[in-house]
Amino acid sequence: MDIRIATDQDRDDIIRVYSPAFPEGESEIVARLAINLLSENSMPPTISLIAETDGSVVGHIAFSPVGIDNNENCQAYILAPLAVKPDYQTRRIGSALIEYGMQRLSAMGVSVVFVYGDPKYYGRFGFNADAARNYTTPYNLQYPFGWQAIAIHECAAEKAPVAIHCVTSLCDPRLW
Ligand SMILES: CC(C)(COP(=O)(O)OP(=O)(O)OC[C@H]1O[C@@H](n2cnc3c(N)ncnc32)[C@H](O)[C@@H]1OP(=O)(O)O)[C@@H](O)C(=O)NCCC(=O)NCCS
Repeated sequence: MDIRIATDQDRDDIIRVYSPAFPEGESEIVARLAINLLSENSMPPTISLIAETDGSVVGHIAFSPVGIDNNENCQAYILAPLAVKPDYQTRRIGSALIEYGMQRLSAMGVSVVFVYGDPKYYGRFGFNADAARNYTTPYNLQYPFGWQAIAIHECAAEKAPVAIHCVTSLCDPRLW
């Protein structure tokens, strides 16, 4: 299995990962997020990664930058979305995509990474609700227990709630 940077040419393959991985109704919204993030001209950059097996795309993950109110010194990202084709799940492809992305972010000096997802899965990688507690999401969460973060570099912990801001692709209340 190889991991590489996703490009615009991967759009159809990325849709073919998300369509069967998520339930109908949800998959279209999440696939659109993955595609929109490919053309997100954020600074620092949005990172979109592909997992390939035998030349075919079997997994995708994206990390986009997050602004924290009144805290320009703390570089933050959010992991979203992530999917592995059903036939390729439980082969550590999801884990490899997360670990590869986290290593890149760590090398860039990123301090905090957020995620909104199943704590039973993301807890394996050190994401936890405590680390995310004082960061207020742009929209009310449908599943507040899914809001988690991980501190990968020293950054002054927020003692009072602060708002976070995401890239345009994530500014859709249906994603939260
Ligand atoms: C979640 C997902 C990306 C994991 O990818 P994967 O390649 O199968 O994951 P890995 O092989 O690295 O890890 C699999 C392990 O996590 C477990 N796992 C997978 N999804 C889980 C979940 N939602 N909750 C708890 N454990 C989960 C598996 O049982 C397996 O456990 P094991 O290592 O003890 O066998 C993949 O299952 C998927 O695409 N699911 C549908 C889309 C989705 O839910 N995306 C995440 C949105 S938050």
